[in-house]
Amino acid sequence: MSPLTVKKQATKKRIPAKKASKKGQASANDVKPKLYASLVVQLLSLLKGEHDFIANAANFSALLYSSLPNVNWAGFYFLHGEELVLGPFQGNPACVRIPIGKGVCGVAAKRCETIIVPNVHEFPGHIACDVASNSEIVVPLFDGERLLGVLDLDSTEIGRFDDQDAEGLNELVTVFVAHEERLGP
Ligand code: SME
Repeated sequence: MSPLTVKKQATKKRIPAKKASKKGQASANDVKPKLYASLVVQLLSLLKGEHDFIANAANFSALLYSSLPNVNWAGFYFLHGEELVLGPFQGNPACVRIPIGKGVCGVAAKRCETIIVPNVHEFPGHIACDVASNSEIVVPLFDGERLLGVLDLDSTEIGRFDDQDAEGLNELVTVFVAHEERLGP
């Protein structure tokens, strides 16, 4: 795997799950899509009837942190002017401000693309908030064309995040932002 893989944001296209193997057993390829499908249901349930943005973002980060295996940090950075500012998260205390274009989060925000980093130590300019982190995925959040910020997940495992995580997390942030838009301020 290359040190840096850039994926387009919020594609509607689904990665086809492998067909079930003999005797109807689900293949290993089904595990993540099933987990993310269940997280969509759980997120919708957490959001239902609540429109406090910070509270919803906090519960969203807690859902990811507690449900996804091998994740040591999950949370948000929101766009304030020319920089990203730390939002609700789960994990160790993190750096508060990240300029656009700096670190994995700033690069994802600048490119408006999901970035998967299999090994953060090979990513030029990576900002190490937790020294235990070895891989990372950053997903931008949009309100239409407007960048709202990014969702950031770290793992101690090298190569923890893949296309299925990118697909699942993009779906979750789309659900999250759509809910906030529907309810309004
Ligand atoms: N590693 C990120 C900084 C945020 S922490 O991982 C929580 C980056 O390089 O942008």
